[in-house]
Amino acid sequence: MTATETGARSPGITYQQLLDGDTHPVPDVLRLESPRFLGDHDVPRTRYTSRSYHRLEVERLWRRVWQFACREEHIPEPGDHIVYEIAELSFIVMRTTDGSIKAFPNACLHRGRRLKDHEGHCSEIRCAFHGFAWTLDGALADVPAGWDFPHVESRADGFRLPECRVGTWAGFVFVNPDPDAAPFEEFISGLAEHFDIWDLGNRYVEAHVAKVIEANWKIAQEAFCEAFHVNATHPQILPYLGDTNSQVDVWDNFARVITPGGTPSPLLGWEPSQDEMMRAMLDIRVDQDLPVSLSDGQTARAAGAAAARERWRPIVGDAVDGMSDAEMMDSLDYTLFPNFHPWGAFNRIVYRFRPNGDDHRSSIMEVFFLSPFTGERPAPAPMHVLGVDEPWTNAAELGMLAKVFDQDTFNMCNVQRGLEATFKPGITLANYQESKVRWLHEMLTEWVGEDADEIAALTPVEVRR
Ligand code: FES
Ligand SMILES: [Fe+2]
Repeated sequence: MTATETGARSPGITYQQLLDGDTHPVPDVLRLESPRFLGDHDVPRTRYTSRSYHRLEVERLWRRVWQFACREEHIPEPGDHIVYEIAELSFIVMRTTDGSIKAFPNACLHRGRRLKDHEGHCSEIRCAFHGFAWTLDGALADVPAGWDFPHVESRADGFRLPECRVGTWAGFVFVNPDPDAAPFEEFISGLAEHFDIWDLGNRYVEAHVAKVIEANWKIAQEAFCEAFHVNATHPQILPYLGDTNSQVDVWDNFARVITPGGTPSPLLGWEPSQDEMMRAMLDIRVDQDLPVSLSDGQTARAAGAAAARERWRPIVGDAVDGMSDAEMMDSLDYTLFPNFHPWGAFNRIVYRFRPNGDDHRSSIMEVFFLSPFTGERPAPAPMHVLGVDEPWTNAAELGMLAKVFDQDTFNMCNVQRGLEATFKPGITLANYQESKVRWLHEMLTEWVGEDADEIAALTPVEVRR
C-alpha cells in the first residue's frame, strides 16, 4: 500500500497537475513519483532524549556511514586540509601531493595527541607534542630521537597514518570511517542520477553559516523534512506556498519533498489573487506599490519564474531558457541519509546536521549556499559561526531565509523540551506529508538496530550534565 492508496490527500492542485501548466518543458526527474507508506506507528521519543541511543548512533551509524565532510574547493592545493568532526570522532581531510584526497583519523600514533586543531595548509603533518611527522600521504617522515624508537620503524605498516575511505561527487567530499563500508558509488548513485541536470560541481560556496541548536540533531533536521509546519511556523508565506500540496518521494537511501511556489496554500481561509501572491512573494506591504505588474493572464508563478530566469541569466547564460518554472520556483529539497540535504536547481541551499560533539541534546546546523559563477571559481566563503543565542538574521548573507530559520529554530529547542516532559512514549507522524521523516527513522532502525530502542527505553531521559 502506498501513501496515496490510503486515499487521503490535500485539497488543491497536485504537484503533477501544476507541472502540466508550466510555461517551459519540465525535466523528467520532476515527473517521477515515489510515494511510500512506511507504517503509522509512533516513533519512540527516546531517539531524541536518550544518551544510550545517541551512543549507539555513534557506534553503529556515524562510525559506519558515508558522510559529507567538505567541498573539494575547501582544499584545492596539496597540503590544504580541513578537520571534520562527528561526535567525538575527528578526521583530517587532506589534499595530498598527487592531488587526490585522503582522510586520516586525527590522532598521533605516538601518544595520541590530536594532529590538527583546525583547517589550514601544511607541508607535512607534524604533531605538536613531540614532533613525530608524516607526509601529506600519511607515510612516516620523521621520528625525533629515532634511536629510541627502533620498534617503530620496523613495524609492518611502517607506522603509516591509518586511512578512512573517501569518495567525491559534484564537488562534495564524503568520508567513511568503516573500512568494510559499501562502495561510495553504490551509496551516491541514486541521488547522483537525479542531480544529473543540476550540476552542483559547477558551483561555489557563496555562504556558509553554522549554528549550535539546543536540540538533538534529528529534531533540527526533521524541521526541514516536511512543509506541514509552514501553516503554524511561517504563516507569512502561505499565500504563495503550496505547503500541503507538496509531493513527497522516497527511494532507497534518499528522499525528497517538493514544495511548489507561486501557488496558494490550501490551508488559507481565503483565495489570494495573482497580485496578492506576488505581493507576499516579494514581501511587499499592502500600503506599498507592487514593483512588477503581471501581464494579462500571467500567473504569479510564471512571473516569478520569468524574473528568476533574468536574475540568473548574467551568470548562467541562456541555459535559463531551458529551465522550467518548477525549477525556478519550487523547493526541491532532497535528503541523502543520514544528514545531507542538497536542494535541486538554483535553490542553492545545502544543509548538514550533526550532533554537537558528544552531546545528544544539542546539534550543529549548517547552511551552505552553492551558487553558480562565471570565470574563475571564487574562493569559498569562510564558515560564519553564530553563537547559540545569536539569531540567524545576524548572518546577512542568508538574506530573507534568515528570518525563516529563526522561526524554525524557535521550535527546535521547544521540541527537545517537550519530548523530555511528555508522558507519551512516541511521536505521531502524518502518513504522507511526514513520510520523509518516517523514512529517516526507518533508515535509522536499519542502521542503529531495533535493540537500540529497547536499550534506550530503559534510560528514557538523561539531562544535561
Ligand atoms: S603525541 Fe604526537 S609526537 Fe608525541
Ligand atoms: Fe521551516
